[in-house]
Amino acid sequence: MSQEKTTPEVLRRKKEKGEKITALTAYDYPTALCLNEAGIDIILVGDSLGMVVLGYPNTLKVTMENMLDHCRAVARGNSRALLVADMPFLSCTVSIADAVRNAGRMIQDGEMEAVKVEGGTDMARTVTAIVRAGIPVMGHIGFTPQQTLRYGRKRVRGRDRPSVEKLLGDAAAVEEAGAFAIVLECLTEAAAKEIAEKLSIPTIGIGSGVHCDGQILVTTDMLGFYEAASFKHVKRYADLAGLMKTAFKEYIREVQEGKFPGKEHSFQ
Ligand code: KIV
Repeated sequence: MSQEKTTPEVLRRKKEKGEKITALTAYDYPTALCLNEAGIDIILVGDSLGMVVLGYPNTLKVTMENMLDHCRAVARGNSRALLVADMPFLSCTVSIADAVRNAGRMIQDGEMEAVKVEGGTDMARTVTAIVRAGIPVMGHIGFTPQQTLRYGRKRVRGRDRPSVEKLLGDAAAVEEAGAFAIVLECLTEAAAKEIAEKLSIPTIGIGSGVHCDGQILVTTDMLGFYEAASFKHVKRYADLAGLMKTAFKEYIREVQEGKFPGKEHSFQ
């Protein structure tokens, strides 16, 4: 495991050397401790928080205050990974001044080191303004959950040439605006490959195939913790919900049968 603190510059060198970048989400202190110790490159405090922690149907109700609480908890558990916070719904689309102020809050109050902004060409000026303020920005194109009311639910992008051209234009706009990396969500493998080859900044894929410079997943999905989520692009590395239910049932049975607490858990 590399002990080097991850920075945007470290990620750029990884892309140059062809080394894959690893990223996962976290919303709390103990998960951040585990990710940091496991050697992840990037921890994203995603606005997926809305669904997988707060129980909302989508990301649209997540507020700056929700994000800041969880960002601070994650920051306390991390020393090595690059900490990126999602800019939640409306936090950077009302005005550019608002966007810079809110991104600044993620750094000053949330103890983050970078922010993620959803959108392509339409968000390029906002990305530039945030970067000029001294805040590293990660872009996010393809399926963008904050546009779900406008464009509908998760669907693969880049299936025909006009769609690929649009994605290439968005990716180039985000790079030119000064982003240090870009998330590609739910693109065909071929479209993601073309973008990864064209951009000099790292592409971090989710549901976009193996040719991206790195990969990200929602941690609760890959751990099988939040059972409602089941997407083709998610590999389940564990069955946490299964483990938890087994443990909860055993506890309930042992308490009911008077087997817990035993002598070893009691003070004489
Ligand atoms: O909110 C989130 O977790 C994300 C990832 C899916 C990239 O944006």
